Amino acid sequence: MSDENNKRITFEEFIKTDQKHISGVDNELTALLKEILLAGKSISSISGRAPISGLTGTDGSVNQHGDKVKKLDLIAEEEMVSALRRATSVCMAVSEETEEVIHLNSENGNYIVSFDPIDGSANIDTNLSTGTIFSISKRQSKIGGKPDEEEVLQTGDVQVVAGYFLYGPALVFCFTAGSGLHQFILDSDTGTFILVRENCKIPGHGTVYSINEGGVETFSAGVKNYIRYCQEGDPATGRPYLSRYCGAMVADIHRILLEGGIFIYPRTDEFPSGKVRMLYECNPMSFIIEEAGGMSVNGRKRIMEVEPDDIHQQSPIFIGSTQNVKTVLSFLENQDQ
Ligand code: F6P
Ligand code: MG
Repeated sequence: MSDENNKRITFEEFIKTDQKHISGVDNELTALLKEILLAGKSISSISGRAPISGLTGTDGSVNQHGDKVKKLDLIAEEEMVSALRRATSVCMAVSEETEEVIHLNSENGNYIVSFDPIDGSANIDTNLSTGTIFSISKRQSKIGGKPDEEEVLQTGDVQVVAGYFLYGPALVFCFTAGSGLHQFILDSDTGTFILVRENCKIPGHGTVYSINEGGVETFSAGVKNYIRYCQEGDPATGRPYLSRYCGAMVADIHRILLEGGIFIYPRTDEFPSGKVRMLYECNPMSFIIEEAGGMSVNGRKRIMEVEPDDIHQQSPIFIGSTQNVKTVLSFLENQDQ
């Protein structure tokens, strides 16, 4: 995006000048975001070179979710943790790849960060899109002592910033600080993130549904009926909808953000509580989509109102354009999610 003088607006300029959309982003938070941007750039460049530097494939271990850990999952986690340490304002972090809460260098840190270092990491070896998701919230307790680990278990509504990188043909960075959603693209010639959409809005209705339908036999009756609804012919509502699923939540939701529609990961026999994790996947993506004017629910209530009891808690999720989410909710009423 350019201003009236046709000037390209970098992330740094945006943060400095656009008080309307980043109120609450103080110097500490700005410094933290800049470190996270550096991590995103490194993860992108390491992922891009992975096939020639021997970094594809698994590292031989399995994480607490039962996923085979990819070499890049661990490298990306290290990049993020280093960024958070450099920022010095983060007291604790939660990462998809680490079972316990990570204590960082600052007992005086004001912020708690939850992150998924590489979302959709199963896509790495086939050179398909992946992403990094993060959520920043403020520490509730008094600063200046060992923070209480329970503090990471906050509802999504207390997030102050959420964002993601999408590692596709372009490196996309989207973030919200609670006053709209903003999208940047990395200009690889200059190494700077350039604003491409300020205050972006998701269409109110869309004709894409995004779900791994392989487990359909084990979906609840409500979800099965909704899938049938998506597949029925009805030109007035744009049905049958297009089915699009690439296996990285960030990429699938980014498409829905731009074009409208719905992303669903329901309960299945394999994942009876849903697959996607509350703290570093559901909450940040829900904050982002709500800031863009969309909706995100677990089938019963807004995702961001759910109080998590475990740092790696999973949840069903129905997220996207308001009209699509309302329709799926009408199918779920009085039924299992
Ligand atoms: O992190 C969870 C995740 O990798 C999401 O990015 C993605 O949408 C989903 O799992 C893919 O799961 P499945 O392979 O079961 O469709
Ligand atoms: Mg993920």
